[in-house]
Amino acid sequence: MRRRLARALARPLALAAASTVIPLASAVPAAADSIVVGGFPVDVSEGPWTVALSSRDRFGGTRAGQFCGGVAVGRTTVLTAAHCMEEEVLGAPPERVPDLRVIAGRSELLAKGGQEIAVRDVWVNPDHDAVTNSGDFAVLSLAEPLPQGSSIAMAGAGDPAYRAGTEATVYGWGDTTGSGSYTGSLHAARVHVQRDAVCEKAYPGGSVGTYRARTMLCAGEAAGGRDACQGDSGGPLVAQGRLIGLVSWGAGCGWAGSPGVYTRVSEILSTLGWPQG
Ligand code: ARG
Repeated sequence: MRRRLARALARPLALAAASTVIPLASAVPAAADSIVVGGFPVDVSEGPWTVALSSRDRFGGTRAGQFCGGVAVGRTTVLTAAHCMEEEVLGAPPERVPDLRVIAGRSELLAKGGQEIAVRDVWVNPDHDAVTNSGDFAVLSLAEPLPQGSSIAMAGAGDPAYRAGTEATVYGWGDTTGSGSYTGSLHAARVHVQRDAVCEKAYPGGSVGTYRARTMLCAGEAAGGRDACQGDSGGPLVAQGRLIGLVSWGAGCGWAGSPGVYTRVSEILSTLGWPQG
């Protein structure tokens, strides 16, 4: 299951030029297979903690090697999804991807600005569960510090930003047309945090994953239309100026009744033993 899912994630990016639409485990209409669906372009200065993960060796140079998102929570600390660091996605264990980099401060992947910083160390959550998708996070240590002011505070357990109904914004790079024409510019979409009961009903257990309220949160719109999508994984979901989620999984993208599922940041804090805000 995990292998199939991971391949489905990796392929649209690796084969972007071929514009082949690869269906997910559940049949996904081509029109829904786009990144940050229902979103709008943003300048990275509006979310300077949003970074792109890149390996030109593994994914080619057409999109500067971008294959996942990430979020800076410290000058040398970036969070991403555990599944982004899997061999099925990277084609090798992360320590054997020497050009693994974080691209920061750049809205257009192919532009010159911002910085590309080497990843010095990768820690993948050993409790990441490939069946439910629970615990989908990894910590990257950077070889050089990011500029001051480019990291975001993490929302601890009990933070009001987690409340159902809260407006949140998700950020990521890629195709917004659904036809494999990746634009390479940062996009964002506004979604609302959903009640756990809604998430549980949407994902009671199946081939895509199982909703677990302790380790995940879900966000979207009742009517669908706005969501994260393939290639956004590991990127930030921000509410009230704090990080509440990392893009993790979902059935299709922007489907009514199938909200996007995110790694719950307060659970990352407790797993790592970091202070809860
Ligand atoms: N797993 C995907 C990735 O690797 C992200 C999927 C998010 N899907 C969603 N409908 N929110 O990029």
